[in-house]
Amino acid sequence: MTKAFYVTTPIYYVNAEPHIGHAYTTIVADVLNRFHRLMGYETFFLTGTDEHGDKIVQAAADAGVEPREYVDRISGVFRDTWPRLNISHDHFIRTTDADHVRTVQFILRKVHDAGEIYFSTYRGLYCVGCERFYTERELVDGKCPDHDKEPIEREEANYFFRMSRYQSWLIDHIASHPDFIRPERYRNEVLSFLREPLEDLCISRPVERLSWGIPLPFDDRYVTYVWFDALINYVSALGYPDGEAYGRYWPVVQHLVAKDILKPHGIYWPTMLKAAGIAPYRHLNVHGYWKIDDGKMSKSKGTVVRPLDLVEAYGLDAFRYFLLREMVFGLDAGFSEEALVQRLNADLANDLGNLFSRTLAMTDKYVDGRVPPFASELQAPEKELIRQLEESKRQFREEMPRFGFHKALMSIWESLNAANRYIDSVGPWNLAKQQDQRPRLLTVIRSLLELNRVSAALVSPFMPETAEKMLQRLGISKGAMGLRFEEDTRWGALQEGASVFKGEALFPRIDLKTRKAAQPAAKAPQTAAAGADPDIPGFEETIPFELFQRVDLRAGTVKQAEAVPKSRKLLRLMVDIGEERQVVAGIAQDYTPEEMIGRQVIVVANLQPAKLMGIESHGMVLAVRDGEKLRLVTTEQPVSPGRRVS
Ligand code: MSP
Repeated sequence: MTKAFYVTTPIYYVNAEPHIGHAYTTIVADVLNRFHRLMGYETFFLTGTDEHGDKIVQAAADAGVEPREYVDRISGVFRDTWPRLNISHDHFIRTTDADHVRTVQFILRKVHDAGEIYFSTYRGLYCVGCERFYTERELVDGKCPDHDKEPIEREEANYFFRMSRYQSWLIDHIASHPDFIRPERYRNEVLSFLREPLEDLCISRPVERLSWGIPLPFDDRYVTYVWFDALINYVSALGYPDGEAYGRYWPVVQHLVAKDILKPHGIYWPTMLKAAGIAPYRHLNVHGYWKIDDGKMSKSKGTVVRPLDLVEAYGLDAFRYFLLREMVFGLDAGFSEEALVQRLNADLANDLGNLFSRTLAMTDKYVDGRVPPFASELQAPEKELIRQLEESKRQFREEMPRFGFHKALMSIWESLNAANRYIDSVGPWNLAKQQDQRPRLLTVIRSLLELNRVSAALVSPFMPETAEKMLQRLGISKGAMGLRFEEDTRWGALQEGASVFKGEALFPRIDLKTRKAAQPAAKAPQTAAAGADPDIPGFEETIPFELFQRVDLRAGTVKQAEAVPKSRKLLRLMVDIGEERQVVAGIAQDYTPEEMIGRQVIVVANLQPAKLMGIESHGMVLAVRDGEKLRLVTTEQPVSPGRRVS
């Protein structure tokens, strides 16, 4: 029976669109998946979106739509992005899928029936603004860091998972399975959490505080805490408890996450599995963070790097190669477009691309574009080339399963560089001048073609598109996914006489000086000002005047204003725009209700109505965000309400 391989990414929150961090984890999962296919495994690759909880409700409210509509939209953006990065996942799970909801409720019931979930009252420090409990340690000078207010004491009854019972089991399990969590630094981090007493985990939220979640099957006054719901995706996607895929792929799973979500994966998840009577996962693999200018990516600083912008500017495989070559799995890495271009020019255009085009150009020129035979005995330089290639293959095999992607790539590049040196030292152009050297010339060209073929197979998990192009041009019809390590990296397997075809350069060089920055929005034409300031996004495509005219903008006067209960950002306004309109605006962090009364604003009057935190909004107030601040758009002198903006 073929061996099974199962890889997962975190399911991403739909409160932000995909950025380079999401792309990295997902591409790593893809590379591993393709590597295991190459090694003959039967594979299952899971990714998806995490769609419940406060964060999502808040993001939907900010966007002015209901959670359901919002999650459909952003989940769709993730789903549409992955094929454009050549991600080969087998399933895309959403926590709003009916099957997932059923499995979460099944597990909750099972754990509850086993007596591992209990009901209890919790007393703690609660910030009304954030709508959540804080621990003493999280407060700054006894105040909520977001609201600069002292939290109130609050009591709330909730359901708790007896996580504390599993503390010693988990410590023993980690001790007896040294690669349960890797690399070691993260295993140590989890062990150090476990040195403190483990508390029980609150796994419910009362519906009056949060209704966007999975109802507890034993008490519908509560929904499930988002992490208890989300983690279960890894088994619900396999059809737990009786799905065929579950039998095949659990527990051989390789979970992939970054260090930000180590605790839920290293502590909650294994104890949840244990309590549910499910075998512990095999490995948790934890990587570091991509940083921009030594810091976290930030929306307000305009440092969020969007993968599709980079793909558009530099090509998909250059982007994939860069991510895997530059970051040592487990450590943080800095991202810059300069570094990407450097790798593209040096490693891809120069080393790989050049070797491939030189080889094919010589095949064209000296042997009529057909794979020649080994017409003479191999000599020392070819033997050395084969030795080097065998060494690259060995390292590739060894490094890939232990996440040493950069080392695997470095080792493949040793062979590419050896081949470039081989061409320079053997000088096929000299052999071509001597008739009696013809057999040797054929052998040299055949050796180079073989090396390129094997290299295509080795780079295929990283750069499937490039591998495919290389194979096609070498006259091989099978696609990258059909490659198998044993036969497709064997020296000499090319078909003699097959036509090869030169084609264009695999990776044209890029001159950074004449290249516009890829982000933001690479395709939009940019003025000098827009290009120079990272906070100013690129311009949208032009639209006809008629289209603009369809947006009905009106001057209005605010008659009433009040804060929307339980919301940090929203105000409910009654605005006179020739008629009285109720508009919900996300401006509460910058304007108080009192400040708003009597103000003139500009309203989009023909926007489809939307419900925000249960309140209907019939229009939208225009404002400009400038860094942290939001400023309302208004007229320079007062005008009569209802006048059109044109
Ligand atoms: N929804 C949870 C995960 C639930 S899994 C059962 C979540 N979502 S998230 O959208 O915040 O994604 C976090 C993950 O995105 C990280 O663990 C990592 O995989 C990826 N990254 C986000 N930012 C990153 C970087 N700056 N660098 C590298 N990866 C990062 O947490």
